[in-house]
Amino acid sequence: MRVLLIGSLLVGFVASFSATVGPPRTQRSAEAAQDELETFHKWADDHGIERKVKIQQDTTAGGGRGLIATQRIEPGEEVVKVPLDATLRLEHTPELDLDDNWAGILSRILHQEFLSGSCSPFAPYVANLPKEAPLTPCRWNSAQRHQLHNDTFVQMIHENSQWRKRQLTNQNVDHLHVVDYMKYLDLVCSRTLKGCDGSRQLVPLIDIANHAPSEAGGGRFVVDREAVYLLAGCRGIQEGQAVTLDYGARTVDDFLLHYGFVPHRCVSDSVSVNVGDAEVVSICWSDIRGYRGHDREDIRQACARLLDSSATSLEEDAALMNSMSLRDEADQSALSYRYAKKSLLASAAGIQGGGAQSAFTFR
Ligand SMILES: *[C@@H]1O[C@H](CO)[C@@H](O)[C@H](O)[C@H]1NC(C)=O
Repeated sequence: MRVLLIGSLLVGFVASFSATVGPPRTQRSAEAAQDELETFHKWADDHGIERKVKIQQDTTAGGGRGLIATQRIEPGEEVVKVPLDATLRLEHTPELDLDDNWAGILSRILHQEFLSGSCSPFAPYVANLPKEAPLTPCRWNSAQRHQLHNDTFVQMIHENSQWRKRQLTNQNVDHLHVVDYMKYLDLVCSRTLKGCDGSRQLVPLIDIANHAPSEAGGGRFVVDREAVYLLAGCRGIQEGQAVTLDYGARTVDDFLLHYGFVPHRCVSDSVSVNVGDAEVVSICWSDIRGYRGHDREDIRQACARLLDSSATSLEEDAALMNSMSLRDEADQSALSYRYAKKSLLASAAGIQGGGAQSAFTFR
């Protein structure tokens, strides 16, 4: 969950993230990981965490971890219950919302648990967090950011990087701890759940659920005075299937900036387009009327112009995506971002782009 600097975006940045991030843990023996997992499960039992899931490598999410149902779960049924005592949590206060300071503070708390090592009551949770921070564009170099082909977005990334640095200053982080603190900050930003009461919490186990939009069966979470619950999505879950959480109806920009990944199909995405005379229109997938594209002729034309002005075409990006095995993770994400935006623009323009956008047509 993230955070954001931009006030209005902030609301509802719930949801966690997990796992599709970072290089596979090749160096670590599978045995060590297994031990950590067992210790974590024992800790979860001791803290009254109730669950109908196990943690597993999730091959569908790029090799990260995920939750797998250990029994059949009905739509809306409780899948995981985590008592508040087993969460790292900040009650809501207005000061915490200022400049999203809650994230800096929660990161300091998490970092302190890490420094306490085995003395921390949360040690098994901390040990079981991803070893790498999510690879958000704040961690990319400028050449990689340039591959996004979007100066406005690059500027937002820059502002977010400035915000991250302010957290370091505000929390008086010792220079010896900067790298670790930043890792925890990015983990906090991509994993914190925001309750309706404005509380923010890191919730063991639930924060391992990968994202799926509710249309695709993603579940939701609820925070009450006792516990945090993960509830199954509208389709229910078969035993052995992945249990997912809808991280919210965000744009691809938000997902990439705050979670470090571009969802495969993002029905909640939108793109801003200049339609002459300083009119900026935000176009989303639900505005598109089948193959004809957007209702308004001037918007169709503006979308086509924006596509034309881009450094690469949709077809070129599609071809690059198919030869992607050579690229690193940031290059892949930049390409997926461009492709997602261009697919939306091409559909809004009513251009059938080599069949490429059909993969994104949800209707
Ligand atoms: C460029 O980025 C801005 C900010 O994230 C976004 O609003 C806009 O839709 C993006 N446009 C394109 C064409 O990617």
